Amino acid sequence: MMPKLRHMLRDDDITHAEQKQILDLGMKFWKNRYYSRPFEGPQGVAILFDKPSTRTRTSFSVGVAELGGYPLVIDKSGSQLGRGEPVEDTSRVLSRMNSAIVWRTFGQDLIERMAQYSSVPVINALTDDFHPCQILADFLTIAQHCKSTDLKGKTIAYVGDSANNMAHSYLLGGAVAGMNVRIAGPLGFLPREDIADDARARAAETGGSILVTTDPQEAVKEADCVFTDTWVSMGEEEDYELKSNLFWDYQVNAELMSLAKPDALFQHCLPAYRGKEVTSEIIDGKQSVVWDEAENRLHAQKALLTWLVAQQRGDESLLGETA
Ligand code: CP
Repeated sequence: MMPKLRHMLRDDDITHAEQKQILDLGMKFWKNRYYSRPFEGPQGVAILFDKPSTRTRTSFSVGVAELGGYPLVIDKSGSQLGRGEPVEDTSRVLSRMNSAIVWRTFGQDLIERMAQYSSVPVINALTDDFHPCQILADFLTIAQHCKSTDLKGKTIAYVGDSANNMAHSYLLGGAVAGMNVRIAGPLGFLPREDIADDARARAAETGGSILVTTDPQEAVKEADCVFTDTWVSMGEEEDYELKSNLFWDYQVNAELMSLAKPDALFQHCLPAYRGKEVTSEIIDGKQSVVWDEAENRLHAQKALLTWLVAQQRGDESLLGETA
């Protein structure tokens, strides 16, 4: 294995085989929290937040500690980055002292610039365009329930605001996995065309398929897993009532869920608004696996961090039996 610096900025930065390798590693961490300790030292991992977070902050902090490292959590308000220091300078400084950089920020261009100037792996912990760590956790959740990380041929349906980062990441991540990805949202809230096209191209290679529709019933029919997300993304809260009125047909309720397979799972990246994008009956019901999904952020991200540093160091032994 030759050393190679890799980053995870969007879901299609990895191949089908690499995604499966990361999910296999996630399964190992699920069964043994201390399966691999690549940051023994402890080595620092910089974890930057320009937006609020509960799950991402907790799972990366605990995850880095369990990998033997030191989680250096930096909020925008407490950093020079927040006062206008160039991303390029921050990147060069952080990567001199840390073994990886994790960043939740706004524009995808920002994290691309961070990666361009970094000498260590950079992970997208959510941008306006993508949330690839969430998708790895969600797919690990499906893998645990179907007892296989081979997700080819599974049908996933995402309904709701389909112009957001979650819809984009399901498109790309699902295409990489070889899944049948269905996305449903109202006109004006459908995925970016270039991202849908990238997903179609990747699906053509992996045997998956892509459907973008305004019809939630068509999307959910016979699905193995149904996903939704808040109708109002971070920073849009003022528009909540106005925007919500466009989405009632896309609420995941018992009637919509009944169209999926009888043993279909329900997932939501959280935080959720009960009675809006999902009813209490569904999110608190027997098909819901949202708490497994939230826990899986920890296992999936530890797997991703370990996989990325294994590539950078050219050290296959960090991957154990999944290599
Ligand atoms: N799902 C997710 O990213 O949660 P947080 O915003 O709490 O990190």
